[in-house]
Amino acid sequence: MHQSYNKLREMGNTIKIFIGLVLTGLMMFSSCNTKDVKTGSTELDQRVEDLLSQMTLEEKIGQMSQVNGGGPVVSEEMKEELRKGKIGSILNEVNVENINEIQRVCVEESRLGIPVIIARDVIHGFKTVFPIPLGQAASWNPELIQEGSRISAAEASSSGIRWTFAPMIDISRDARWGRIAESLGEDPYLSAQLGAAMVKGFQGEDLSNETSILACAKHFAGYGAAEGGRDYNTTLIPPRELRDIYLPPFKAAVDAGVRTFMAGFNDIDGIPATANEFLFRQVLREEWKFDGFVVSDWASPWELMNHGIAADEKEAAQRAINAGVNMEMATTTYKDNIEALLKEGLVSEETINQAVREILRVKFELGLFENPYLAPEKQYQFAKAEYLASAKEAATQSMVLLKNEQQLLPISKSQKVALIGPMADQPYEQLGTWIFDGDSTLSVTPLDGLKQALGNKMGFAKGLAISRTRHHKGFKEAVRLAKRSDVIVFCAGEESILSGEAHSRANIDLPGAQNELIKELKKTGKPLVLVVMAGRPLTIGEIGEYADAIVYAWHPGTMGGAALADILLGKANPSGKLPVTFPKVVGQIPMHYNHKNTGRPANPNSWTQMYDIPVKAPQTSLGNESHYIDAGYTPLYPFGYGLSYTQYEYSNVVLNNSVYAIDDTLKVSFTLKNTGKYDGTEIAQMYVRDLVGNVSRPVKELKGFARVSLKAGEQKEITLELPIANLSFHNEKMEEVVEPGDFNLWVGGDSNAELMTSFTVTK
Ligand code: BGC
Repeated sequence: MHQSYNKLREMGNTIKIFIGLVLTGLMMFSSCNTKDVKTGSTELDQRVEDLLSQMTLEEKIGQMSQVNGGGPVVSEEMKEELRKGKIGSILNEVNVENINEIQRVCVEESRLGIPVIIARDVIHGFKTVFPIPLGQAASWNPELIQEGSRISAAEASSSGIRWTFAPMIDISRDARWGRIAESLGEDPYLSAQLGAAMVKGFQGEDLSNETSILACAKHFAGYGAAEGGRDYNTTLIPPRELRDIYLPPFKAAVDAGVRTFMAGFNDIDGIPATANEFLFRQVLREEWKFDGFVVSDWASPWELMNHGIAADEKEAAQRAINAGVNMEMATTTYKDNIEALLKEGLVSEETINQAVREILRVKFELGLFENPYLAPEKQYQFAKAEYLASAKEAATQSMVLLKNEQQLLPISKSQKVALIGPMADQPYEQLGTWIFDGDSTLSVTPLDGLKQALGNKMGFAKGLAISRTRHHKGFKEAVRLAKRSDVIVFCAGEESILSGEAHSRANIDLPGAQNELIKELKKTGKPLVLVVMAGRPLTIGEIGEYADAIVYAWHPGTMGGAALADILLGKANPSGKLPVTFPKVVGQIPMHYNHKNTGRPANPNSWTQMYDIPVKAPQTSLGNESHYIDAGYTPLYPFGYGLSYTQYEYSNVVLNNSVYAIDDTLKVSFTLKNTGKYDGTEIAQMYVRDLVGNVSRPVKELKGFARVSLKAGEQKEITLELPIANLSFHNEKMEEVVEPGDFNLWVGGDSNAELMTSFTVTK
């Protein structure tokens, strides 16, 4: 390997000299990207223009094409394409020798020596797997999430990857949608904060550093609103909701410096995202001044024919290119049609030049021209001790304690534990969806974690082979074990394949015979801890009644079992809070905390459960309010919810003022006290309601939060800030405004927070 690397390096040096002549000053690009005061153009702009001006049409089209890689060696066919400059990026190649060879062919054997960008879905880890993004979001910890993304970038880049298709920041209000696992939940503010943290983690401080990888804000936009939660389905998002709910995380990604975007598969009211000029030209480039580039989703230009908005591949390419999608992933509608489109005047030369310009700019920023190869000593840096420690911390902070009757948890070490359930020892399944490179041999399962802590003070019986097992063959052994123990820990959930892309579910109960086994185990009279390892909120309302304690662990990644053991045994105190509303039954979906009040809001005092309604009750005797007669109007668990082994008390809420101007910053202070017996970390949340608006406003909106660590008995004065400008929304005329008027503000431990104060905004 060393020999061939040295050869590559020698050849690379020759090429570097050549490029250096063509593009003067390139080697110093990152330090001298200063603006010419007269022309407003930077040296980087000039280098891009120099290169662009030398390119043939075929080479330009090449930059706009991303092809699939992989395989034991780089095929001759691919090398030939690279030589002709016909490929701009390759995805799914993770072998460094192949990648170095690919770059060698580009820089040495192609006319202009332009390297390709190697891309891969590094969604929540590379070899070391972090919790699924929805789980990470439950930590409400931007710093930790940034660290995790930095580690993922370090591992992935040591495999030659310089571009990930993450973060996925689609607002997800529907637990049926399999891709909710990949999202950061239902809230625009939380998703914006955490998505920006991921961007910073992946891209690092300097993109040209070889451990930095490009982030990609996806899927622009509205993909999470798939009708019925069925993946790829059409979406109907009113313009105001698009602006106020779905777009803010993407704007935050731009502000955090994200350099690429991906177009969604979905259409919004008939216009597929991939052909959406409004999104990519008006919003992204004109309004937000984004100057990176946009990649399509896999075959999404080609799919414009399936959407029925393009008659053939040529028209599909025309619509995607004109909408502002720079690069086509996997299919070849661009490659095969751009020449004809130009000839017929259906796409302008300037549109192509601009698309290529934006791609080249990012390639320069990545430092690919200076450093196309990865040196042997920098290759394959995986699963270092500090990476595993960070993954464990992320898993610990992602777990949400939903129920803890009689303070069953933490379990004392003197108790005999019966570990049961289909997810208790599944090194692969606990990694979750989108883990192409995840190494399940590194996984610490709940069985490993508890065994290490408890030794033979515990017993294990799967009960069910996998989460979907329907027969009861393992029940007897599991019940026998439970009877011999003091406490049952049941690891339930869904296998990783049951969530993720194209894996939507219409019924989101625990699959297989899990509910039946839990009921059997409960008959033993032993206290039962239900641990749920899943890619989405599952409807555990009814079965949750059989549990004395519930820990929602999501798919927790490599170190999930070690983190879980710490939580169950009290070495760590749970601090996770739900980033998404948990419905009681699937029919309540979509259900989110920031809903509208309606003209007939639900009334807690007038709701009669369906089975309590008297026979032949007169039609109006039950009142006329917005609820379900069989499921009410409240969720199983609200957004922001999560318990701890200790208790927190909020009091003394005070504002620094009562009236604010639009450019003021509100400061809310309150006392947060740990009134329980354990040290802990509380995620204190601030919600606001705009009481009267030009259009109806949500009943509550998250506007800030803080992670506060408190020793048992300790109290702290906490201050959260809210720039009044952050109260803006889009009015009837679709103008973004902060309206003068009265607001309520709550602080507390979840979206049902009750400690309230009020303020007024003036002109
Ligand atoms: C997904 C994207 C992903 C791409 C490349 C598509 O099917 O929608 O999120 O990045 O594949 O693997």
